[in-house]
Amino acid sequence: MRLDLAGKAVLVTGAASGIGSACARAFLAEGARVGLIDRSPIPPLVGDFTDEPVRQFGGLDGEVVAVQADVTDEQALASAVDTVAQRFGRLDVVVGCAGISGPVGTPVAETTAEDFATVLAVNVTGQFLLVKHCLPWLAPGASVVFLASDSAFVCAPGMAPYCASKGALVTLTKALAVELDGVRVNCVCPSVVDTPMSRGDLGDALDDPEFPVQATDDVAQHVLYLASARSRTVNGQAVLADFGVSARSGFPA
Ligand SMILES: NC(=O)c1ccc[n+]([C@@H]2O[C@H](COP(=O)([O-])OP(=O)(O)OC[C@H]3O[C@@H](n4cnc5c(N)ncnc54)[C@H](O)[C@@H]3O)[C@@H](O)[C@H]2O)c1
Repeated sequence: MRLDLAGKAVLVTGAASGIGSACARAFLAEGARVGLIDRSPIPPLVGDFTDEPVRQFGGLDGEVVAVQADVTDEQALASAVDTVAQRFGRLDVVVGCAGISGPVGTPVAETTAEDFATVLAVNVTGQFLLVKHCLPWLAPGASVVFLASDSAFVCAPGMAPYCASKGALVTLTKALAVELDGVRVNCVCPSVVDTPMSRGDLGDALDDPEFPVQATDDVAQHVLYLASARSRTVNGQAVLADFGVSARSGFPA
């Protein structure tokens, strides 16, 4: 499928690791110009955060701008968005990948209000602020893609803040889709993806062949499709990619 993303101005948060990094590389491979935002240093620009364009990221040539910012710091995020958008002159695609899992495996009784608020601040408010500050720069027909999760629809014990945050993000996706003129807003909802986040939470369980785990590139391909005009009729949707696990009923057959 031709995605026609060459030359598009793309902004990706959470680009230093995992899915965000894979998305940034996938857009570069399509010839897009990519702005990277993360609170952590973004390889290979460690120690060299600058608003000057570089010519390579993740072994791929292209026009890349990297800015270090925390998506929960509104002023820093607004400034990072402006730096990227000023460089490119507009934004065609915004991908909100920055996220945290919070206290995975922690019973409700031991989950603090602070834990809960911290997860919502990054996974929900951070996405809201991202779109809010991208608005002046969004080109007609722009596409916003959030990283939600299958945890918006199916829950494992010990992850209440994360599940609540991803459910809220699915609804934020719809709220923005119906309010923003000429801008599509969708989210992808993958089940477990092999990244530093899931390795940190689940460890070696990811290597169990019985356990369905997807690759960051699987997710990046969904993001690219939703970013492209090939999905122009898709708006306000949550694309659930979980190997069909959630489709199975409790019926014993
Ligand atoms: N890994 C999975 O199994 C999985 C499954 C479904 C959805 N997701 C979602 O995908 C997204 C990416 O997750 P990942 O697995 O690649 O995780 P990751 O930890 O590998 O990468 C997340 C990136 O976000 C950045 N980040 C975190 N908080 C930030 C903040 N406040 N401001 C700026 N940057 C911040 C981190 O520095 C990191 O580079 C998250 O939203 C996550 O919830 C992950």
